[in-house]
Amino acid sequence: DSEEDLKPRAPIVTIMGHVDHGKTSLLDYIRNANVAKGEAGGITQHIGAYEVKTKNGAPITFLDTPGHEAFTAMRARGAKVTDIAIIVVAADDSVMPQTKEAINHAQAAGVPIIIALNKIDKPAANPEKIREELSQINILVEEWGGKYQSQEVSAKSGLGIEELLEKVLLEAELLELKANPDRGAIGTVIEASLDKGRGYVTTVLVQTGTLQVGDVVLAGPHYGRVKAMTDHRMKKMKSAGPATPVQVLGLTGAPQAGDRIQVMETEREARELATQRLQL
Ligand code: GTP
Ligand code: NA
Ligand code: MG
Repeated sequence: DSEEDLKPRAPIVTIMGHVDHGKTSLLDYIRNANVAKGEAGGITQHIGAYEVKTKNGAPITFLDTPGHEAFTAMRARGAKVTDIAIIVVAADDSVMPQTKEAINHAQAAGVPIIIALNKIDKPAANPEKIREELSQINILVEEWGGKYQSQEVSAKSGLGIEELLEKVLLEAELLELKANPDRGAIGTVIEASLDKGRGYVTTVLVQTGTLQVGDVVLAGPHYGRVKAMTDHRMKKMKSAGPATPVQVLGLTGAPQAGDRIQVMETEREARELATQRLQL
């Protein structure tokens, strides 16, 4: 893409951190929904993707990655599609092994980190202790003279969350994120499943180009013509531009999280490539 084809796009933000430190709750508060309550055992089993509009209208796309150790591989992929990582640390707990792991993933992917010190509403919260622990692993927050933005938040009361989003937008500005919306879409599969009524449902994060209903796509060893698209609230969409998460109906199977999805010229070409990949 030439420079003039590139248009500003929303930042893609991953929320990472130790189990139960409040990743889903934080995202819930941000998008005014309530995913955590509906989850089996309150444990996130998949990567959700949502676009939210901040108060000043600027969009941010969030990926909610699982906190459980068993999902390390998926989380590693999560860090790769992301522009900015919010590392959540419960202020009434400690910097935990998975906190360090999340920081390592983000750093390995060259993704800027913002620290959210969560559960600040709790009487046992001790954010200064967390800042101290972070300094011991070379994460010096601005209050400690370091380069990392951080924010005390409560996913319960909402305290500090607006400030956190402002810090995300500040970080995003520095990154000058751009993509060409006027080309065949390329994106990453976030999750896929078989729905009794709707067939294979593939959550896709479009990264460049615009995905349209009717497009032929190839994703891992599967392909298909996009029959319909919805956002995470099941609202129908005709097209999805860069940094937009969208649920795609019409694929022949369920690709894997992390698979690349791309628009193809013809259904025949897509089928041939998919068949080749199935035989590998
Ligand atoms: P996994 O996806 O299982 O790793 O957990 P998570 O990091 O998404 O944490 P989750 O949002 O499920 O929150 C874990 C528990 O902490 C829940 O009981 C939440 O209600 C509680 N919690 C989360 N944030 C806050 C907060 O800011 N204040 C208080 N008091 N409780 C919180
Ligand atoms: Na949880
Ligand atoms: Mg969760």
